[in-house]
Amino acid sequence: MCSFRSASAAVALLLATTVCAQPGEYPGIGRKATDKEVAAWDIDVRPDFKGLPKGSGSVTQGQALWEERCASCHGVFGESNEVFQPLVGGTTADDVKRGRAARLTDASFPGRTTLMKLSTVSTLWDYINRAMPWNAPKSLKTDEVYAVTAFLLNLGGVVPDDFVLSDATMAQAQRRLPNRAGTTMAHALWPGANSARTAPDVRARACQRDCVAEPKVASLLPDHARNAHGNLAEQNRAVGAQRGIDTARPADDDDGIARKLDSTTVAVKPAAGASSAWALAGKHGCTACHGLEGKLIGPGFRDVGRKHAARDDAVVYLQDKIRSGGAGAWGTMPMPPQNLPESDARTLAQWIAQGARQ
Ligand code: HEC
Ligand code: HEC
Repeated sequence: MCSFRSASAAVALLLATTVCAQPGEYPGIGRKATDKEVAAWDIDVRPDFKGLPKGSGSVTQGQALWEERCASCHGVFGESNEVFQPLVGGTTADDVKRGRAARLTDASFPGRTTLMKLSTVSTLWDYINRAMPWNAPKSLKTDEVYAVTAFLLNLGGVVPDDFVLSDATMAQAQRRLPNRAGTTMAHALWPGANSARTAPDVRARACQRDCVAEPKVASLLPDHARNAHGNLAEQNRAVGAQRGIDTARPADDDDGIARKLDSTTVAVKPAAGASSAWALAGKHGCTACHGLEGKLIGPGFRDVGRKHAARDDAVVYLQDKIRSGGAGAWGTMPMPPQNLPESDARTLAQWIAQGARQ
């Protein structure tokens, strides 16, 4: 616990003093952790199996446990139900021989399962031991962790049906892991034999001054299409990167999506002080489908202006098209007839014909 002392950095020293504080040294600030408390936290299992407790479990025992404690979320065969990522699948007997999951480099193969990616069996054991089942982590006994791990490995064709996984046989399983040779140091994140680095990369070289603004990539959901497929928030998991916004409610100003596009691409919605025609387009809801340049649902207004620039009757044509809608000029997507005063349609048609300047 006090090993931080050997580190020279001031921060590490500070940590060391805090961690090693004796009762009385800083009255009122905690106490020293007991050996038992430290042992309860110290459960990590390393690739060389340091930290692996003694115990064992068979594939058969694992199957019973799996069906009782794991299958509801991960599927009877680890293929997962609709919500969770599959744990098993995508590996072959050849991978077991070679130690490299071939499908990881096959762009046409859609999925990445746990067994495809896993390079150290200790990680699987450790993860199940500390985090699963999700609704009751750390509730499995050591032998039970060995058993379900054995079952998963068996499902993936890594170990035979009569296999008993134990602290003594973990290395055997490791030698047959389908992607055991799948790690690389070539990215030079860590120092090592086959790395260009001699020291870890611990210097943040992030820009501190006069930095280029990072571009924000965002997507736009036009108001009329917002809830077209039902509420997205209810169709996504509450964990992970993709949550889904609440499309049952209108977009509010601070969901930021449309506004962020404004600042990085051609304005999608008229800003305050925009030309009166562009503001009129906003008022009549045209901007749900039209920007100035480039396609949203319909063509950009400037593109429309350019396309019809040679027509003598451009204003009349556009005015009519705005009022009655139609399809075929820009693609198969139809424009619905627009219900707006004739005079506004004319103003918009003139503005578009003249190049839709803001
Ligand atoms: C209530 C649902 C649920 C149950 C029951 C459950 N899990 Fe999980 N499991 C999850 C979720 C969710 C994740 C992903 C967690 C995350 O991404 O943080 C996960 C992840 C895992 C992973 C890691 C997958 C990866 O590639 O990162 C393993 C291995 C795993 N579970 C094994 C088990 C085992 C073994 C059991 C039974 C003892 C079990 N799970 C029971 C929901 C569950
Ligand atoms: C629901 C989406 C939607 C809305 C709302 C909408 N448009 Fe369109 N608009 C389209 C589509 C799609 C096209 C392409 C139609 C085609 O290919 O013929 C289009 C085409 C046009 C064209 C070009 C016609 C041509 O023949 O080149 C103009 C001009 C136009 N829209 C103006 C407007 C104006 C002004 C409004 C608001 C009053 C408006 N649109 C509202 C979807 C929309």
